[in-house]
Amino acid sequence: MTATTAGPSTPLVTGGSGTRTGRRALRAAASRVLLANWTGASTVPSHTLYPHQWSWDSAFIAVGLSRLSPRRAQRELETLLSAQWDDGRIPHIVFNPAVPLDAYFPSPDFWRSSTAGATAGAPRDIETSGIVQPPVHALAAWLVHESDPETSGRRGFLARVYPRLTAWHGYLHTNRDLGGHGLASVLHPWEPGMDNSPCWDRPLERVDPAPATSFRRADLTHGDAADRPTDLDYGRYVRLAADYRDRGYTDTGAGVGAAAPHGFVVEDPGFNAFLIVSEHALAAIALTLGQDPRPHRERARALTTALVRRLWHPEAGLFLCHDLRTDTPIEEKSVTGLLPLLVPDLPGHVVEALLRTASGDHFGLGSTTALAPSYDLRGHSFDSSRYWRGPAWFNINWALERGLRQHGALARADDLRQTILTSAGASGFAEYVDPRTGRARGTADFSWTAAVVLDLLARTEEPGKGAGR
Ligand code: SER
Repeated sequence: MTATTAGPSTPLVTGGSGTRTGRRALRAAASRVLLANWTGASTVPSHTLYPHQWSWDSAFIAVGLSRLSPRRAQRELETLLSAQWDDGRIPHIVFNPAVPLDAYFPSPDFWRSSTAGATAGAPRDIETSGIVQPPVHALAAWLVHESDPETSGRRGFLARVYPRLTAWHGYLHTNRDLGGHGLASVLHPWEPGMDNSPCWDRPLERVDPAPATSFRRADLTHGDAADRPTDLDYGRYVRLAADYRDRGYTDTGAGVGAAAPHGFVVEDPGFNAFLIVSEHALAAIALTLGQDPRPHRERARALTTALVRRLWHPEAGLFLCHDLRTDTPIEEKSVTGLLPLLVPDLPGHVVEALLRTASGDHFGLGSTTALAPSYDLRGHSFDSSRYWRGPAWFNINWALERGLRQHGALARADDLRQTILTSAGASGFAEYVDPRTGRARGTADFSWTAAVVLDLLARTEEPGKGAGR
């Protein structure tokens, strides 16, 4: 057994996910995590480290919740969507006003969305952050619907969320195509969700850090400093967010490339892969609602073409991030470069190379690692403990499992599914784990870890539904 930094409150579930009794125990434990983290209208990722609602967390959480309560899963997504800005953006945090200001930094009085974001159309009555996270939401809405189409249809779920999800994608396709190449770009290392990835080291070197004395980190109260970003990186995150806020959270203005107003502008393959899959999900939603799916399919096709043209690097064997300020690829192998496995219509040679890279020396999937690490095992910055610099994350491995299955690597998908289940239970639903040993890192009782377990358990029990988009 392993222990997490924070210590799980649910009992660890060891070794049993291969039997019916073991699966039942795992399901009960994962359910307890999600029920304990529910706050009445949404779910916190973690009561300690992340005590509000987070955007992409909620998407994964909704997928898991749909296996417990489809109504609650719908509520999770609709609570998030009710904080959408008029320009279409879905903010990465929706703040709970009942939580003390010092429980999380940057707090609502840092982001000041209702005033600083007024021109961009931030809500007046809810405080949010101003940046975004990966667009997993339309995929999640579709999976929530699919888990119980009858309840979804009766409650008009898809009809309510479809216009909001379309506006969200519209924001990404227009405001965020800052390179003009047909891909969405990210403006802060927290936007692609992989906050502290070595991919951001070079682009961040240009950012003047906010002085450490100008803010107080709340994350170190709940997490081990060795597992979290450094103070220097945090100072840079704060600078980028404050600059964006001080420009009224506007995305465009002074052009692109070196002239862009943003200190950090990157095209990220994982972010765009989720956008493509979600665009396909919007097509399925449109069809179900009797609307025209073709615009979504065309957009998905155009994004797929741009993704391969811009970010595919055959010599690296995976997709690379692209720094728009210098117009150069970022030569780091990150798991974000494998996430396009999620995309259905990739050229065959790209799929074959991605499958080779996933199991090769750099990620070791199925050989030296049980779960795919977040970063190159042989990379100069690999660290098995530190946030997104090596550890394996359950939501990412859930996405890879879907990608492997979709492209016909069924035995590998089955193995990965089994490992996710075993490792999640044995780690106390850890936020992330050491990819080689499975040792729990970060905080425990983490919502999306429990959520992906519930989803995969349900798929295991219902063979034949596993490969659904
Ligand atoms: N994950 C980031 C944080 O540490 C932003 O959500 O706060």
